[in-house]
Amino acid sequence: MKTKFFLGLIFLFFLPIFFAFTLGQIPEAPASSPTLENTGVSLRQLAEQRGIQIGAAVNTYPLKSDRTYQQLLAREFNVVVPENAMKFELVHPQQDRFNFQEMDEIIAFAETHQMEFRHHPLVWDEQLPAWLVRGDFSRAELMDILKKHIQTIVKRYRGKVKTIDVVNEGVARDGTLRDTLWLRGIGPEYIDLSFIWAHEADPEAKLFFNEFSAEEMGAKSNAVYDLVQGLQQRGVPIHGVGLQMHKALNNQPKIEEIAQNVARLGELGLEVQITEMDIAIPEVAGADFSQQLQEQAKIYGDSVKMCVAAKNCTAIIFWGFSDRYTWMTSLIGQGGNPLIFDKFFRPKPAYTAVKEALKQ
Ligand code: XIL
Repeated sequence: MKTKFFLGLIFLFFLPIFFAFTLGQIPEAPASSPTLENTGVSLRQLAEQRGIQIGAAVNTYPLKSDRTYQQLLAREFNVVVPENAMKFELVHPQQDRFNFQEMDEIIAFAETHQMEFRHHPLVWDEQLPAWLVRGDFSRAELMDILKKHIQTIVKRYRGKVKTIDVVNEGVARDGTLRDTLWLRGIGPEYIDLSFIWAHEADPEAKLFFNEFSAEEMGAKSNAVYDLVQGLQQRGVPIHGVGLQMHKALNNQPKIEEIAQNVARLGELGLEVQITEMDIAIPEVAGADFSQQLQEQAKIYGDSVKMCVAAKNCTAIIFWGFSDRYTWMTSLIGQGGNPLIFDKFFRPKPAYTAVKEALKQ
Protein backbone atom coordinates (compact mmCIF):
# COMPACT_ATOMS: atom_id res chain seq x y z
CA MET A 1 0.00 0.00 0.00
CA LYS A 2 2.75 2.35 1.06
CA THR A 3 4.75 1.53 -2.05
CA LYS A 4 1.77 2.40 -4.28
CA PHE A 5 1.34 5.70 -2.51
CA PHE A 6 5.01 6.45 -2.91
CA LEU A 7 4.98 5.58 -6.62
CA GLY A 8 1.91 7.78 -7.08
CA LEU A 9 3.79 10.72 -5.55
CA ILE A 10 6.72 10.19 -7.89
CA PHE A 11 4.32 10.01 -10.83
CA LEU A 12 2.59 13.28 -9.84
CA PHE A 13 5.96 14.95 -9.36
CA PHE A 14 7.23 14.00 -12.80
CA LEU A 15 3.99 14.58 -14.73
CA PRO A 16 4.38 18.36 -15.26
CA ILE A 17 8.04 17.90 -16.18
CA PHE A 18 7.05 15.30 -18.76
CA PHE A 19 4.44 17.62 -20.32
CA ALA A 20 6.79 20.57 -20.38
CA PHE A 21 9.33 18.44 -22.15
CA THR A 22 7.03 16.89 -24.77
CA LEU A 23 5.27 20.18 -25.55
CA GLY A 24 8.64 21.71 -26.16
CA GLN A 25 9.26 19.00 -28.72
CA ILE A 26 6.15 19.64 -30.79
CA PRO A 27 7.21 21.44 -33.95
CA GLU A 28 5.61 24.75 -34.57
CA ALA A 29 2.95 24.94 -37.26
CA PRO A 30 4.29 26.63 -40.39
CA ALA A 31 3.84 30.40 -40.21
CA SER A 32 1.69 30.46 -43.33
CA SER A 33 -0.17 27.52 -44.73
CA PRO A 34 -0.22 27.16 -48.52
CA THR A 35 -2.61 29.43 -50.30
CA LEU A 36 -4.36 28.95 -53.56
CA GLU A 37 -3.45 31.89 -55.72
CA ASN A 38 -5.97 33.09 -58.20
CA THR A 39 -4.17 32.74 -61.49
CA GLY A 40 -7.09 33.66 -63.74
CA VAL A 41 -8.06 31.25 -66.45
CA SER A 42 -6.94 27.71 -65.66
CA LEU A 43 -4.69 25.43 -67.70
CA ARG A 44 -7.61 23.08 -67.97
CA GLN A 45 -9.88 25.70 -69.53
CA LEU A 46 -7.21 26.67 -72.04
CA ALA A 47 -6.46 23.04 -72.91
CA GLU A 48 -10.15 22.32 -73.36
CA GLN A 49 -10.42 25.22 -75.80
CA ARG A 50 -7.48 23.73 -77.69
CA GLY A 51 -8.98 20.25 -77.71
CA ILE A 52 -6.06 18.66 -75.88
CA GLN A 53 -5.87 17.16 -72.44
CA ILE A 54 -3.73 18.31 -69.56
CA GLY A 55 -3.10 16.02 -66.65
CA ALA A 56 -1.11 15.08 -63.60
CA ALA A 57 -0.07 11.92 -61.80
CA VAL A 58 -1.60 11.69 -58.33
CA ASN A 59 -1.06 9.79 -55.12
CA THR A 60 -3.89 9.00 -52.75
CA TYR A 61 -2.20 10.36 -49.63
CA PRO A 62 -2.40 14.06 -50.57
CA LEU A 63 -5.60 13.42 -52.49
CA LYS A 64 -7.25 12.50 -49.20
CA SER A 65 -5.47 14.78 -46.80
CA ASP A 66 -4.46 17.98 -48.52
CA ARG A 67 -7.24 20.36 -49.42
CA THR A 68 -5.07 22.74 -51.44
CA TYR A 69 -3.78 19.81 -53.46
CA GLN A 70 -7.33 18.70 -54.22
CA GLN A 71 -8.50 22.14 -55.22
CA LEU A 72 -5.57 22.86 -57.46
CA LEU A 73 -5.73 19.47 -59.14
CA ALA A 74 -9.41 19.84 -59.96
CA ARG A 75 -8.99 23.44 -61.08
CA GLU A 76 -6.00 23.05 -63.39
CA PHE A 77 -6.19 19.56 -64.89
CA ASN A 78 -8.66 17.34 -66.71
CA VAL A 79 -6.78 14.04 -66.57
CA VAL A 80 -5.43 12.10 -63.61
CA VAL A 81 -3.02 9.19 -63.65
CA PRO A 82 -2.43 6.99 -60.60
CA GLU A 83 1.23 7.54 -59.72
CA ASN A 84 1.31 4.28 -57.78
CA ALA A 85 -2.19 2.95 -57.11
CA MET A 86 -2.18 0.74 -60.19
CA LYS A 87 1.29 -0.66 -59.74
CA PHE A 88 1.12 -4.47 -59.68
CA GLU A 89 2.22 -4.82 -56.03
CA LEU A 90 -0.49 -2.45 -54.85
CA VAL A 91 -3.42 -3.43 -57.01
CA HIS A 92 -2.70 -7.19 -57.10
CA PRO A 93 -0.86 -7.91 -53.83
CA GLN A 94 -1.63 -11.62 -53.74
CA GLN A 95 -2.20 -14.04 -56.55
CA ASP A 96 -5.88 -14.44 -55.79
CA ARG A 97 -6.53 -10.95 -54.40
CA PHE A 98 -6.85 -7.53 -55.98
CA ASN A 99 -7.00 -4.32 -53.99
CA PHE A 100 -8.87 -1.57 -55.77
CA GLN A 101 -9.28 0.79 -52.86
CA GLU A 102 -6.80 3.44 -53.98
CA MET A 103 -7.84 3.19 -57.62
CA ASP A 104 -11.46 3.65 -56.62
CA GLU A 105 -10.60 6.71 -54.55
CA ILE A 106 -8.79 8.37 -57.43
CA ILE A 107 -11.51 7.49 -59.92
CA ALA A 108 -14.18 8.85 -57.59
CA PHE A 109 -12.26 12.13 -57.41
CA ALA A 110 -11.93 12.20 -61.19
CA GLU A 111 -15.63 11.61 -61.66
CA THR A 112 -16.61 14.28 -59.16
CA HIS A 113 -14.51 16.80 -61.04
CA GLN A 114 -15.25 15.64 -64.58
CA MET A 115 -11.69 14.53 -65.15
CA GLU A 116 -10.51 11.57 -67.13
CA PHE A 117 -8.62 8.76 -65.47
CA ARG A 118 -5.78 7.11 -67.36
CA HIS A 119 -4.80 3.54 -66.56
CA HIS A 120 -1.08 3.31 -65.82
CA PRO A 121 0.57 0.83 -66.09
CA LEU A 122 -0.99 -2.52 -66.87
CA VAL A 123 2.25 -4.31 -67.69
CA TRP A 124 5.59 -3.23 -66.25
CA ASP A 125 8.67 -4.81 -64.76
CA GLU A 126 8.84 -2.73 -61.59
CA GLN A 127 6.85 -2.57 -58.38
CA LEU A 128 5.99 -6.24 -58.75
CA PRO A 129 4.81 -8.25 -55.72
CA ALA A 130 7.01 -10.93 -54.15
CA TRP A 131 4.54 -13.70 -54.97
CA LEU A 132 5.06 -12.93 -58.66
CA VAL A 133 8.79 -12.31 -58.65
CA ARG A 134 9.63 -15.32 -56.45
CA GLY A 135 6.97 -17.64 -57.85
CA ASP A 136 8.37 -20.30 -60.09
CA PHE A 137 5.71 -20.10 -62.78
CA SER A 138 5.61 -21.93 -66.09
CA ARG A 139 5.04 -19.97 -69.31
CA ALA A 140 1.38 -20.99 -69.40
CA GLU A 141 0.88 -19.98 -65.76
CA LEU A 142 2.53 -16.61 -66.33
CA MET A 143 0.30 -16.00 -69.33
CA ASP A 144 -2.74 -16.81 -67.22
CA ILE A 145 -1.55 -14.44 -64.49
CA LEU A 146 -0.95 -11.59 -66.93
CA LYS A 147 -4.23 -12.08 -68.75
CA LYS A 148 -6.16 -12.18 -65.49
CA HIS A 149 -4.31 -9.10 -64.22
CA ILE A 150 -5.05 -7.09 -67.35
CA GLN A 151 -8.63 -8.17 -67.81
CA THR A 152 -9.69 -7.89 -64.18
CA ILE A 153 -8.54 -4.27 -64.04
CA VAL A 154 -9.75 -3.24 -67.47
CA LYS A 155 -13.18 -4.89 -67.11
CA ARG A 156 -13.76 -3.39 -63.71
CA TYR A 157 -13.40 0.14 -65.05
CA ARG A 158 -14.70 -0.44 -68.58
CA GLY A 159 -16.59 2.57 -69.83
CA LYS A 160 -15.03 4.82 -67.19
CA VAL A 161 -11.45 4.73 -68.45
CA LYS A 162 -10.75 5.79 -72.02
CA THR A 163 -6.96 5.57 -72.23
CA ILE A 164 -4.63 2.82 -71.05
CA ASP A 165 -0.85 2.54 -70.80
CA VAL A 166 -0.81 -1.14 -71.65
CA VAL A 167 2.90 -1.89 -71.77
CA ASN A 168 5.28 0.42 -69.94
CA GLU A 169 9.02 0.58 -70.62
CA GLY A 170 9.32 -2.45 -72.88
CA VAL A 171 12.37 -1.30 -74.83
CA ALA A 172 15.99 -1.08 -73.63
CA ARG A 173 18.42 1.75 -74.29
CA ASP A 174 20.07 -0.06 -77.22
CA GLY A 175 16.75 -0.74 -78.89
CA THR A 176 16.40 -4.40 -77.94
CA LEU A 177 13.42 -5.55 -75.92
CA ARG A 178 13.92 -4.80 -72.25
CA ASP A 179 14.84 -7.84 -70.19
CA THR A 180 11.74 -8.19 -68.04
CA LEU A 181 10.02 -10.90 -66.08
CA TRP A 182 7.44 -11.02 -68.86
CA LEU A 183 9.95 -11.30 -71.68
CA ARG A 184 11.86 -14.04 -69.87
CA GLY A 185 8.77 -15.96 -68.87
CA ILE A 186 6.50 -15.55 -71.89
CA GLY A 187 8.72 -14.37 -74.74
CA PRO A 188 8.47 -11.27 -76.98
CA GLU A 189 4.82 -12.01 -77.74
CA TYR A 190 3.89 -10.82 -74.25
CA ILE A 191 3.57 -7.36 -75.80
CA ASP A 192 1.12 -8.40 -78.56
CA LEU A 193 -0.83 -10.50 -76.06
CA SER A 194 -1.12 -7.66 -73.55
CA PHE A 195 -2.66 -5.36 -76.15
CA ILE A 196 -4.97 -8.08 -77.42
CA TRP A 197 -6.15 -8.95 -73.90
CA ALA A 198 -6.70 -5.30 -73.00
CA HIS A 199 -8.69 -4.76 -76.17
CA GLU A 200 -10.80 -7.85 -75.51
CA ALA A 201 -11.64 -6.49 -72.07
CA ASP A 202 -12.58 -3.05 -73.36
CA PRO A 203 -12.82 -2.62 -77.14
CA GLU A 204 -13.51 1.11 -76.76
CA ALA A 205 -10.37 2.02 -74.84
CA LYS A 206 -7.38 3.67 -76.51
CA LEU A 207 -4.29 1.57 -75.96
CA PHE A 208 -0.82 3.07 -75.55
CA PHE A 209 2.75 1.84 -75.46
CA ASN A 210 4.55 4.06 -72.94
CA GLU A 211 8.32 4.58 -72.88
CA PHE A 212 11.06 6.71 -71.29
CA SER A 213 14.06 8.23 -73.06
CA ALA A 214 12.41 7.58 -76.41
CA GLU A 215 11.38 11.19 -77.00
CA GLU A 216 14.11 12.22 -79.41
CA MET A 217 15.23 10.48 -82.59
CA GLY A 218 17.71 7.66 -81.89
CA ALA A 219 18.18 3.95 -81.32
CA LYS A 220 15.52 3.71 -78.65
CA SER A 221 12.80 5.72 -80.37
CA ASN A 222 13.56 3.88 -83.63
CA ALA A 223 12.97 0.64 -81.79
CA VAL A 224 9.69 1.93 -80.35
CA TYR A 225 8.66 3.01 -83.84
CA ASP A 226 9.46 -0.44 -85.24
CA LEU A 227 7.72 -2.14 -82.37
CA VAL A 228 4.43 -0.25 -82.74
CA GLN A 229 4.55 -0.56 -86.52
CA GLY A 230 5.01 -4.29 -86.07
CA LEU A 231 1.97 -4.42 -83.81
CA GLN A 232 -0.07 -2.63 -86.45
CA GLN A 233 1.15 -4.95 -89.21
CA ARG A 234 0.13 -7.96 -87.18
CA GLY A 235 -3.30 -6.46 -86.60
CA VAL A 236 -2.72 -5.93 -82.88
CA PRO A 237 -4.83 -3.05 -81.53
CA ILE A 238 -2.69 -0.02 -80.64
CA HIS A 239 -3.69 3.62 -80.73
CA GLY A 240 -0.81 5.61 -79.40
CA VAL A 241 2.64 6.05 -77.94
CA GLY A 242 3.31 7.71 -74.61
CA LEU A 243 6.55 9.65 -74.28
CA GLN A 244 7.33 9.99 -70.59
CA MET A 245 9.67 12.96 -70.71
CA HIS A 246 11.45 12.79 -67.40
CA LYS A 247 14.10 15.39 -68.12
CA ALA A 248 16.31 17.86 -66.31
CA LEU A 249 18.12 21.15 -66.84
CA ASN A 250 21.27 19.12 -67.46
CA ASN A 251 19.44 16.70 -69.73
CA GLN A 252 17.22 18.97 -71.78
CA PRO A 253 14.76 17.67 -74.34
CA LYS A 254 15.66 18.37 -77.96
CA ILE A 255 12.31 19.75 -78.96
CA GLU A 256 12.79 19.66 -82.72
CA GLU A 257 13.76 16.03 -82.65
CA ILE A 258 10.78 15.23 -80.47
CA ALA A 259 8.51 16.99 -82.97
CA GLN A 260 10.05 14.85 -85.70
CA ASN A 261 9.46 11.69 -83.70
CA VAL A 262 5.87 12.70 -82.92
CA ALA A 263 5.29 13.39 -86.62
CA ARG A 264 6.59 10.04 -87.81
CA LEU A 265 4.37 8.25 -85.29
CA GLY A 266 1.53 10.39 -86.63
CA GLU A 267 2.23 9.04 -90.10
CA LEU A 268 1.50 5.60 -88.71
CA GLY A 269 -1.88 6.97 -87.64
CA LEU A 270 -0.90 6.96 -83.97
CA GLU A 271 -1.59 9.49 -81.27
CA VAL A 272 1.23 10.66 -79.06
CA GLN A 273 0.83 11.82 -75.48
CA ILE A 274 3.45 13.35 -73.22
CA THR A 275 2.76 11.15 -70.23
CA GLU A 276 5.11 11.85 -67.31
CA MET A 277 6.76 15.18 -67.84
CA ASP A 278 8.96 16.69 -65.16
CA ILE A 279 12.07 18.82 -65.44
CA ALA A 280 14.45 18.38 -62.52
CA ILE A 281 16.61 21.24 -61.33
CA PRO A 282 19.99 19.80 -60.35
CA GLU A 283 21.61 21.06 -57.17
CA VAL A 284 24.67 22.87 -58.45
CA ALA A 285 26.77 24.82 -55.95
CA GLY A 286 26.51 28.55 -56.60
CA ALA A 287 23.69 28.20 -59.14
CA ASP A 288 21.19 31.04 -59.41
CA PHE A 289 17.86 29.45 -58.55
CA SER A 290 15.69 32.10 -60.17
CA GLN A 291 17.69 31.68 -63.36
CA GLN A 292 17.18 27.92 -63.15
CA LEU A 293 13.44 28.45 -62.74
CA GLN A 294 13.41 30.50 -65.95
CA GLU A 295 15.30 27.78 -67.80
CA GLN A 296 12.87 25.21 -66.51
CA ALA A 297 9.95 27.37 -67.61
CA LYS A 298 11.31 27.63 -71.12
CA ILE A 299 11.54 23.85 -71.43
CA TYR A 300 7.99 23.43 -70.18
CA GLY A 301 6.71 26.13 -72.52
CA ASP A 302 8.54 24.81 -75.59
CA SER A 303 7.40 21.25 -74.92
CA VAL A 304 3.77 22.28 -74.60
CA LYS A 305 4.04 24.41 -77.76
CA MET A 306 5.43 21.40 -79.58
CA CYS A 307 2.51 19.25 -78.49
CA VAL A 308 -0.07 21.91 -79.30
CA ALA A 309 1.42 22.32 -82.79
CA ALA A 310 1.46 18.58 -83.54
CA LYS A 311 -1.90 17.36 -84.79
CA ASN A 312 -1.51 13.91 -83.24
CA CYS A 313 -0.26 15.07 -79.83
CA THR A 314 -3.40 14.78 -77.72
CA ALA A 315 -2.34 15.17 -74.11
CA ILE A 316 0.32 16.58 -71.83
CA ILE A 317 0.56 14.94 -68.47
CA PHE A 318 2.97 15.98 -65.74
CA TRP A 319 4.36 13.55 -63.17
CA GLY A 320 2.71 15.44 -60.34
CA PHE A 321 2.08 19.17 -60.16
CA SER A 322 3.51 20.50 -56.91
CA ASP A 323 7.13 20.20 -55.77
CA ARG A 324 5.64 19.29 -52.39
CA TYR A 325 4.85 15.82 -53.73
CA THR A 326 7.30 14.52 -56.31
CA TRP A 327 9.09 11.24 -56.78
CA MET A 328 12.29 13.27 -57.37
CA THR A 329 12.77 13.71 -53.63
CA SER A 330 13.44 9.98 -53.42
CA LEU A 331 15.86 9.93 -56.35
CA ILE A 332 19.06 10.93 -54.62
CA GLY A 333 21.32 13.12 -56.68
CA GLN A 334 18.80 13.82 -59.42
CA GLY A 335 17.90 17.28 -58.20
CA GLY A 336 14.39 18.35 -57.48
CA ASN A 337 11.74 21.02 -57.82
CA PRO A 338 10.70 19.50 -61.14
CA LEU A 339 7.06 20.57 -61.33
CA ILE A 340 5.01 23.64 -62.22
CA PHE A 341 3.85 24.63 -58.72
CA ASP A 342 6.28 25.04 -55.83
CA LYS A 343 6.16 23.33 -52.44
CA PHE A 344 3.63 25.87 -51.23
CA PHE A 345 1.44 25.47 -54.30
CA ARG A 346 2.52 28.81 -55.71
CA PRO A 347 2.66 28.88 -59.50
CA LYS A 348 6.25 28.84 -60.77
CA PRO A 349 7.48 30.46 -63.97
CA ALA A 350 6.92 27.02 -65.55
CA TYR A 351 3.21 27.35 -64.83
CA THR A 352 3.04 30.69 -66.61
CA ALA A 353 5.03 29.28 -69.54
CA VAL A 354 2.64 26.34 -69.91
CA LYS A 355 -0.27 28.74 -69.81
CA GLU A 356 1.23 31.02 -72.46
CA ALA A 357 1.97 28.01 -74.66
CA LEU A 358 -1.64 26.87 -74.40
CA LYS A 359 -2.86 30.33 -75.35
CA GLN A 360 -0.91 30.49 -78.60
C1 XIL B 1 7.38 6.10 -60.05
C2 XIL B 1 6.63 6.81 -58.94
O1 XIL B 1 6.59 8.17 -59.21
C3 XIL B 1 7.32 6.54 -57.61
O2 XIL B 1 6.57 7.08 -56.54
C4 XIL B 1 7.53 5.05 -57.40
O3 XIL B 1 8.27 4.84 -56.23
C5 XIL B 1 8.26 4.45 -58.58
O4 XIL B 1 7.54 4.73 -59.78
N1 XIL B 1 8.27 5.74 -65.05
C6 XIL B 1 6.97 5.32 -64.82
C7 XIL B 1 6.30 5.62 -63.54
O5 XIL B 1 6.33 4.79 -65.75
O6 XIL B 1 5.34 4.68 -63.19
C8 XIL B 1 7.32 5.79 -62.43
O7 XIL B 1 6.64 6.22 -61.26
C9 XIL B 1 8.38 6.80 -62.85
C10 XIL B 1 9.13 6.32 -64.07
